[in-house]
This record gives sequence, structure tokens and C-alpha cells, in this order.
Amino acid sequence: MQNTHPVRIAGLELECPVFLAPMAGITSLPYRLVMKEHGAALVFTEMVSCNGLVRDGRKTLELVRSCPAERPLGIQVFGGDPEIVAEGVRRLGDAGDLIDLNLGCPVSKVVRGEAGSALLRHPRRIATIVRAMRRATDKPLTVKIRSGWDSSNLNFVEIGRIAESEGADAVTLHPRTRAQGFGGRADWSQIGELKSRLRIPVIGSGDIVTAEDGVRMLRETGCDAIMIGRGSHGNPWLISNIRRRLCGLPERQPTAGERLDVVLRHLARHRECFGDRKTLFEMRKHLCWYSRGMADAATFRSRVNRTGSLDELEQLVRDFFAGRPQPGTANGS
Ligand SMILES: Cc1cc2nc3c(=O)[nH]c(=O)nc-3n(C[C@H](O)[C@H](O)[C@H](O)COP(=O)(O)O)c2cc1C
Repeated sequence: MQNTHPVRIAGLELECPVFLAPMAGITSLPYRLVMKEHGAALVFTEMVSCNGLVRDGRKTLELVRSCPAERPLGIQVFGGDPEIVAEGVRRLGDAGDLIDLNLGCPVSKVVRGEAGSALLRHPRRIATIVRAMRRATDKPLTVKIRSGWDSSNLNFVEIGRIAESEGADAVTLHPRTRAQGFGGRADWSQIGELKSRLRIPVIGSGDIVTAEDGVRMLRETGCDAIMIGRGSHGNPWLISNIRRRLCGLPERQPTAGERLDVVLRHLARHRECFGDRKTLFEMRKHLCWYSRGMADAATFRSRVNRTGSLDELEQLVRDFFAGRPQPGTANGS
């Protein structure tokens, strides 16, 4: 993998400005390893509850199970109570190389607990939480925010400045409001504005689905790094191709054999990590994404959804991906 434009977040040197976004229900260890192998310089866990870390530490710590091959690893936490968040961070001990605070999750369960995006309505509380976290860890500390609660309350610059002044080492902005959810378009100009108002690194997130998008976000906003979320689903080559573009190299799509290898490795690692039952269920969505745009994908998916055996699932994968033309090409060349 080419080394392009290293980025530094406090003491953490990252080899390029392309990161994997935290995604609940998606960015478990097997997924992170796939993305790491395709060049993500920093990967993030799913968000981890600080209440959970404090209440039933061992079970919640399972969520941050890691291995050396994926380091450096960012651990994202959420919580609304400064003391509990700080204690949760302490309980993480040696796990992870960077701690990120979720200030963007729009899900009602999290918002009801006055955590995630709910905190955007309480800047002073954010200050207290970041201060408490700063005391609790020496690791690089980042926050991930949305642009505000709704379009009448766009306070991302205020929140970014608060985080910076309380000791955060970088801020990630997904420039949609909580009210927008995932609708409409991410307003990249807000990433540019935040970058111009902070001294610490700014990481941009939102709507990067092609390598050109990735290069363009870096160029247009001046942000220090980008985070890839949904665009990585079934497409780790998005990450390798952004890196190639940053080095002035042409994009390169995987051969059928390479795609098959990646899918099989993902499947095998999932099985090793989570066992047969969970893998059978969880890999359905990934296989659906890996097969997107390919001929006969609908038939493949319905077979995948019907099978009750992991060995049969593996055979379906081999039969489907071996020797297939690649998505969007007439002959796979
Ligand atoms: C299924 C899913 C789960 C997500 N979970 C989290 C999360 O746990 N923490 C977080 O900060 N953002 C989460 N996000 C938001 C992403 O990190 C990212 O900021 C957002 O999806 C915009 O980027 P994208 O357009 O590249 O997907 C999630 C997004 C999706 C689609």
C-alpha cells in the first residue's frame, strides 16, 4: 500500500488520511480487518455504552475485542453523564489507541438517555464530559458530531471549539443535523467552515461513495482526513482506490478471484469471532452488499437468506463469486 499524506492526531501518526467510520451493527472486528487490509489508516469500533462499561464491564468489553493486525484502533464511546463516561473510559484500560466520543447518534434510545446527538443541545454538558474524559485518559481523544440538532440550531463550530478548548485532539463532522437523519445531502461546506475555525485536525464524514468523492472532499474542504461509512459496504476497494488516487495512480477494480478471496476471508473471520449462528445471520447483509450490481445477485441473495448451514453458505459464495464479471463491466475485464 502506498504511503500518502500522513496525518497526526496528538501522538498518533496515521499513514494516510483515509479512515473507516464507526458504524453500529457493522464495524465489528472482521469488518474492520477487511477495511484495514484495503488501506484504512484508522478503524473504529461500533459505539460502546459507558453505562455498559461501568455496569457489566466484561460483557461490554467484548465489543472492543481487537487484534494487533487492526491497530491503530479507535474506540467510540457514548454516554450522557460526565462521571460515568470518564469511568467507562478508564475501564477500557489498554484497549484501543484513540478514544472518540459520539455526539451524533440520532437513534431515539440513545437520545432518550441524553447521549449522542441529544448532547448537541447542551454545549456546556459537552464541555464537562470532554473535560472529564481528558482527565481519564492520555490517549488521543476525539469527538464525532453532526452539524446541529436541526436546521435552526447549527452549532457545529461552537461545539468544535468547546471540544478543542477542553482538550480534544480532533473533531469529526458528519454535516447533517439530527433532524435530517440520513436524508438529503451532507453539506460539505460545513466541514470546510469547521476546518477554518479550529486548530486541531478536522475529519470529514458523509456521502463518500466513489474514490473521486474522497479526493474531492479532501480538496474542497481542506479537512485533514476523511471517514468512509456506507460506501465501504461490500466495497473495501473504495478505500484502496482513494489511496491510489491520492498517489496519482489509476483506480483498480478487483478481479473475480480477489473479490472471492476477500468475501471468503470475511466469512471465515466472522465465524471464528462469533460462531456459526450469528455468522449465518450477520453475513447476509454483507453478502448482499458484496454482490450488488452483479448479474443474478437477486437469486444469490434469496439463496443466502434461505440457507441454514454455514458450509452451504460458503459453497453458495464460491459458486456465485468465482469467475464472475465485475459489477458495472460487460466482461469483467
Ligand atoms: C448503519 C450505520 C451505523 C452507524 N453507527 C454509527 C456509530 O455507531 N457512531 C457514529 O459516530 N456514527 C455512526 N454512523 C454514522 C457514520 O459514522 C457516518 O458518519 C455517516 O454514515 C455518514 O457517512 P457515510 O455517508 O459515509 O455513510 C452510522 C451510520 C450507519 C449507516
